[in-house]
Amino acid sequence: MSLAELAAAEGTPLYVYSSAAITARYRAIDHAFRGYPHAIHYALKANSTLGIVRLLRSLGAAADANSGGEIDVALRAGFIPEQIVFTGVGKTPSELAQAIDIGVKTINAESEGELDRIDCLARERGTRVRVALRVNPDVDARSHPHISTGLKVNKFGVPVDAVREICRRFVSREGLEFAGLHTHVGSQITDLEPLRRAAMTIVALARELKDDGITLDHLDIGGGLGVSYDGVKVPSPDEYAAAVLPIVRESGLTVILEPGRSVVGPAGVLVAQVVDVKDRPDGKSFVILDAGMTELMRPMLYGAFHRIEPVLCNASSDEIVADIVGPLCESSDTLGKDRRVKRPRPGDLFAILDAGAYGAVMASNYNRRPMPAEVLVDGAKWSVIRRRQTIDDLLALES
Ligand code: LLP
Repeated sequence: MSLAELAAAEGTPLYVYSSAAITARYRAIDHAFRGYPHAIHYALKANSTLGIVRLLRSLGAAADANSGGEIDVALRAGFIPEQIVFTGVGKTPSELAQAIDIGVKTINAESEGELDRIDCLARERGTRVRVALRVNPDVDARSHPHISTGLKVNKFGVPVDAVREICRRFVSREGLEFAGLHTHVGSQITDLEPLRRAAMTIVALARELKDDGITLDHLDIGGGLGVSYDGVKVPSPDEYAAAVLPIVRESGLTVILEPGRSVVGPAGVLVAQVVDVKDRPDGKSFVILDAGMTELMRPMLYGAFHRIEPVLCNASSDEIVADIVGPLCESSDTLGKDRRVKRPRPGDLFAILDAGAYGAVMASNYNRRPMPAEVLVDGAKWSVIRRRQTIDDLLALES
C-alpha cells in the first residue's frame, strides 16, 4: 500500500496502521507464552482508536483499561466486562462504581485507601469485587524516568514489605475477593532484568500469601516490553517469555500480560508533508512539516527518537543536515534533530516511523490544530478508522 496514495486521498498529517503488523506482533506474544495459562490484556492506553481495539479483540486479546473512558471504549469495541482489567493510580469513585457495576474481571488496586473504597462500593451493592493489589517492587526499569514506574519513589502501587500485612487486613472484607497481584515497572524496557525481578517479587509474595491462606488465581506482570526505535535489536517476545515464564511457572498461577507498545508501536507511521525548508546561518537547515508535537508528543516529552524517512526518494543529490520540526509556536516542537536527508521540497512527504503507540492517543489541539485522521491498512484494502477532526468538531463543545 502506497503511503503517498493514502496521503493524497486523506490528506496529512495522517496516521497509518498496518493490520498485518499488529496481527503478527500480537500473535508473536501469544505464541511466546503458549503452553502456559496466560491472558493478553492489550493496554488500550497505547492506542485506543476503536478500529485498532476491535482488531485486537478479533485476534483474541482481552483489555487493560486505565480510565472510565477506556472502559467505555473497550465495551464499545465489543469486549465483555469479564475481559477487562481496570488499572490506574487515581481511579475516581465514579470510575470505580462504573467498573463494579458492569463487573470487570479485576480491579488492579493501587492502595489501602482504594481497597477500602472498592470494599464500601461493593458492599453497598451487595456484591464482591475481584481485586489484584498493585505491588511496587522497587525495581529500576532503566527506561526514561517519565515512564519508569517501579521505583519506591514512584506513585504506583504499594511497597513490597506492606503487601502481606495489607492483604491479611483486607482479606476478610466482604466486598473484596483477592484474585491476584499486579505489577508494572515501566514502559519501553529493553533490558529483561527489571521485568524478571518484578516477576520474582510478585511470585514470592504470592507464595507468602498462600502460607497465610490467601490463594490467588493470577499474576499480572503488566506491560513494558520495548520496541526498537533506532534499529538496534531489542528483546523479542520469545526472549521475554523465556525470562519470565520459568519464574511464574513456579506459582502455577495464570499469568496476565498488559502489552501496549510492543503490539502496536512499530505497526504505525505518521505521514506528514513538508511545508517549508529553511537554511540556518550555521549551515544546517530546518525541514518544517505539517505535523509536530500536537500529533506526536513523544520527541518533545521524552526526547524520544523516531526514524523519519522520505516517503518517495527524490532525485536530488544535495544532502542537508536538518532539524525536522513542526509548525507550532515553540522550539520544543522538534520531531528529529540533526537528521541527514536529501533536500526536500515543499509538498514532499515524510513518514515518522514506529508511531503506532502513544502517538494519536497523546495528540492535542494546541494551536487549535484538529486531530489527524487515522487509516488502517488491511492487505490491499484500507479504511479511515478515525476521520480528521474539523474546527466545527472542536467548537461543538463551546458556548
Ligand atoms: N500496564 C500498565 C499498568 C501501564 O501503566 C502501562 C503503560 C502498560 C500496561 C503498557 O505498557 P507498554 O507495554 O505499552 O510499555 N506515553 C509513554 C508511555 C507511557 C506508558 C504508560 N503505562 C511513551 O510514549 O513512551
